[in-house]
Amino acid sequence: MRHSKPRVFVTRVIPDAGLTLLEKHTDADVWPHDRAPTREELVRGAKNADALVTLLTEKVDADVLAAAPRVRIVANVAVGFDNFDVAAATKAGVVMTNTPGVLDDTTADLAFALLLCTARRLAEGDRLMRTGAWDGWGIMQLLGHDVHHATLGIVGFGRIGRGVARRALGFDMTVLYADEFPASPEVERELHVTRVPLDELLARSDFVTLHTPLLPGTKHLINAQSLEKMKRTACLINTSRGPVIDEAALVQALRSGTIAGAGLDVYEHEPKMAPGLAELDNVVILPHIGSASYATRGKMAQMAASNVIAFFEGKTPPNALNPEALTRPT
Ligand code: GLV
Repeated sequence: MRHSKPRVFVTRVIPDAGLTLLEKHTDADVWPHDRAPTREELVRGAKNADALVTLLTEKVDADVLAAAPRVRIVANVAVGFDNFDVAAATKAGVVMTNTPGVLDDTTADLAFALLLCTARRLAEGDRLMRTGAWDGWGIMQLLGHDVHHATLGIVGFGRIGRGVARRALGFDMTVLYADEFPASPEVERELHVTRVPLDELLARSDFVTLHTPLLPGTKHLINAQSLEKMKRTACLINTSRGPVIDEAALVQALRSGTIAGAGLDVYEHEPKMAPGLAELDNVVILPHIGSASYATRGKMAQMAASNVIAFFEGKTPPNALNPEALTRPT
């Protein structure tokens, strides 16, 4: 660690586990408001900083980096990093990091919760009770779809997708997955999963759950055509990134009965939702809380802080997305 402490602009109050570390090793300037800084506020905060600790709400691109010439490392408190322009950072000699691994189980829990909630219409039931509209038990009331023994299609079979498959074992589900890269035969055997092309997965699954990162190739992976390929009784679950679904097409599909329901934790233009989405009863909508447990958010904050500290100790940050930025010829 050099003699004067590096200045770190932290774009939101993060859990203590991370903040305490940063405050011990750096000169941390924490954005005090309970909202994301605007782009201007981000640039202002970043201007004299040596490092940034950001959330997924902060877009860090070539312009932000150009306006913050002292910044050498940007640590996202998130595993997804579609808010980063990593190529621009590499070019500028700035290393970027994320928080892989620590939130897999928490996010898989949420995906499964959303699946159950959507299948069994829990949010509708809750609304019925709260509004005082329940007039007693009814044999035809709030009929949903069984999760046990149903077919689950997992799109993107990384750490979180595999976590969902592990949970599905307890519900005796048939599990299909679609991924560019096949899992090893040992993993396929252990998790009782079968790799199939995406179109086959869409056609066969009762529940489709998305676990791909947002990349140019996964934007609108689920669109009007893919929704048409799903069963009319199927539900779509998304805890990955909103733009993986064409949200306007999803509203249309939910309205017209092309699919039965959807459970969403993420949206194409957060915090906005596509017009009409919130008026539909066959959708469960959550405010991007996939990793939101006390323990996991603490681990994420600690991991981001550790990446920054490692960097200023002259080490390669353990979760560097572009370690080549460190060796870039100047
Ligand atoms: C949350 O969405 C994350 O990417 O960590």
